Amino acid sequence: MVKAGLEDIVAAESSICDVDGTAGRLIYRGYDIHDLAENSTFEEVIYLLWFGQLPTKSELDKLTKDLNSNRALPKPVIDALHNYPKKALPMEVLRTAVSMLSMYDPDGDDNSIPASTRKATRLMAQFPTIVAYWDCIRNGRDLKAPKEDLTIAANFLYMLKGETPDEVSTKSLDIALILHADHELNASTFAGRVAAATLTDMYSAVVAAIGTLKGPLHGGANQEVIKMLIEINDPEKAKAYVEKKLAEHQKMMGFGHRVYKTEDPRAHHLRIMSEELGKRLKDERWYKMSREIEEVVFKQKGLYANVDFYSASVYYMLGIPIDLFTPIFAISRMSGWAAHILEQLSNNRLIRPRADYTGARNLKYAAITSR
Ligand SMILES: CC(C)(COP(=O)(O)OP(=O)(O)OC[C@H]1O[C@@H](n2cnc3c(N)ncnc32)[C@H](O)[C@@H]1OP(=O)(O)O)[C@@H](O)C(=O)NCCC(=O)NCCS
Repeated sequence: MVKAGLEDIVAAESSICDVDGTAGRLIYRGYDIHDLAENSTFEEVIYLLWFGQLPTKSELDKLTKDLNSNRALPKPVIDALHNYPKKALPMEVLRTAVSMLSMYDPDGDDNSIPASTRKATRLMAQFPTIVAYWDCIRNGRDLKAPKEDLTIAANFLYMLKGETPDEVSTKSLDIALILHADHELNASTFAGRVAAATLTDMYSAVVAAIGTLKGPLHGGANQEVIKMLIEINDPEKAKAYVEKKLAEHQKMMGFGHRVYKTEDPRAHHLRIMSEELGKRLKDERWYKMSREIEEVVFKQKGLYANVDFYSASVYYMLGIPIDLFTPIFAISRMSGWAAHILEQLSNNRLIRPRADYTGARNLKYAAITSR
């Protein structure tokens, strides 16, 4: 029997990430996401996902150096960014720029595991530069050269805003990047693995993943959430707004999940961050509205908030433009995509499922003049 949307179908063996939807647990390479969110850094998590264990100090130093020294974009790619239409969506820009970058990669068409790992490192380093530069270019701001002494989170905020960010903003973004880094066979990762399994290159597989993440049922949901919060704009009005939407059988963005039947463990951290950032800014509107919405949706539909619900208010309070929310998800998920693509390549078999044919049979061709 066909399972619509491949629900609960196991399509790969993987040692990267485990999602326990009943217990609400998320594990990267054996480590609970709560432990990583509280104690780790995004750079450490990248190492963990790619190489299977937490790094020693020297291993982390080496990866950090590789990541930080590869942030610059080739000049033709920067020139191309300047030529894109200013209304281009940041996810379109990211998808297109990544595709272009493949033509400038020094490893060329070498798709061995070591070369693919180097390509992943360059992509991981260049994703934030593309996103920040695009926002500067479309708004007529000067481009800041990346700073090698800053972490991925701090350097991204620096390139985006033109000034070194404060510790709270950097830490908040770093935790958000850890939380979004991997999630087993989510749609974009699956797309990336399907592409990789044809033995295409790292860039092609990542382009497939970016295009898949863009959809509102996947990474695009966080942007829809903040648009909804802005539309409501007042915690007092949140309950009535949600009740009306649910009565009209509309989907509430940022709620529900294919795998989690309980709270998404990532939402827990983002909810706390949303509350803390609100207090710090002395504007708790976004957090209060979110809480109100969460209660009504749970009472009426039994649905829990997912990772996209509270990340929306967190990014908004960090002063990040709304249409960069999904690209930030992509910056983080690039780490998980690469881990999965490398895992696929290390034990590859073409992914080629079957379809249950439901169309007509035995029709006879009729000439166009007689149809
Ligand atoms: C994540 C999502 C795509 C999972 O989809 P899925 O596993 O295919 O689940 P379905 O869309 O089939 O939903 C199952 C039921 O729950 C309801 N439901 C699921 N998510 C809902 C939501 N966000 N708002 C309202 N109802 C929802 C559906 O209407 C459906 O009800 P029905 O059986 O009465 O028709 C879905 O929950 C969704 O669209 N959420 C909003 C988008 C979002 O936040 N995406 C980010 C995911 S991290």
